[in-house]
Amino acid sequence: MKTRMTELLGIRYPIMQGGMQHLGVPELAAAVSEVGGLGTINVTIYPDPEDLRAAIKEVKKRTSKPFAVNITLIPSLRPGKELFDQVAVILDEGVTAVETAGASPQELADVLNAHKDQVKWIHKAACVKHAKKAEGMGADLITMAGYEVAGHPHTDGVGTIVLANKTAREVKVPVLAAGGISDGRGLLAALSLGCEGVVMGTRFVASKECWIHQNHKDWIVNANENDTVLCQKSIRNMVRVADNAAARKCLEMEAQGATLEKLMAVIAGKLGKAAYENGNVDGGMFAVGPACGLIHKIESCKEIIDGMAAEAEQGLARINGVYGK
Ligand SMILES: Cc1cc2nc3c(=O)[nH]c(=O)nc-3n(C[C@H](O)[C@H](O)[C@H](O)COP(=O)(O)O)c2cc1C
Repeated sequence: MKTRMTELLGIRYPIMQGGMQHLGVPELAAAVSEVGGLGTINVTIYPDPEDLRAAIKEVKKRTSKPFAVNITLIPSLRPGKELFDQVAVILDEGVTAVETAGASPQELADVLNAHKDQVKWIHKAACVKHAKKAEGMGADLITMAGYEVAGHPHTDGVGTIVLANKTAREVKVPVLAAGGISDGRGLLAALSLGCEGVVMGTRFVASKECWIHQNHKDWIVNANENDTVLCQKSIRNMVRVADNAAARKCLEMEAQGATLEKLMAVIAGKLGKAAYENGNVDGGMFAVGPACGLIHKIESCKEIIDGMAAEAEQGLARINGVYGK
């Protein structure tokens, strides 16, 4: 499979594991990269630049293949003054891909553009306007995140199929589709829309290599596409999460006009992380997308990626058959 994504990033399959708070750690990123995708670790998990360096080294110990580092810029996760120290570590360690997300990446444009020969810059946007802006700033690839994404979609409610199609028509750099993609059919659809690859989160949460508790993986396998909800609209930080007790409590509190301070009792990241560890699937907010309705078993990253490539090929043969008749 060759697209501008695979060529630019030096990977075998046009499949990226998007950055994932708490879960984008070396074990998962390396597992994805080792089998030909693009794995990603998150700086938000390693606020201390030296911890980030250790994590990057750990990925390199596990795979010699390219991987990415995600820098999430939404105010609740944005690294503080250490941001530029983290970028310095990323460059110093020879990382070849960075994924920015969550807000305008303008503040990083100069440093990323100055190192274009080493590091490819992927910006994840959630509307066409922001995609074009990021292209103008110098991003090498754009991920278009549709309404179906786990985590933070745009509030305008436009789905991946329209956003990915339109973005691929309107920017010149390669576009990756994110949101609702979990299998070879989704990959083939993204390529048909003019995209050059896909970014997945939910599917990789349900992988053998993801450290999350088995209960959370089972939740995904047993969930259907209606089992996610959008919370935190009242605090202008909308997030798509599992429809669990924590999310329902959050919605109830928001309906009653709770302040951010009060909401922290249910949305705090440490609660979600503790739940990932102890397996209480209702114990915290759990970012997942409706792609969970398409996930029926827990597989290794190799099984996931090889399976997607094979299914995309079968799909293409099926389509060719339709047109051949
Ligand atoms: C558990 C989880 C945590 C996530 N955390 C982040 C994050 O910190 N930063 C980010 O840019 N995207 C984050 N995402 C979004 C993914 O990178 C990706 O864009 C999204 O999951 C794609 O949609 P899908 O889940 O339908 O595949 C997260 C997704 C999940 C499932």
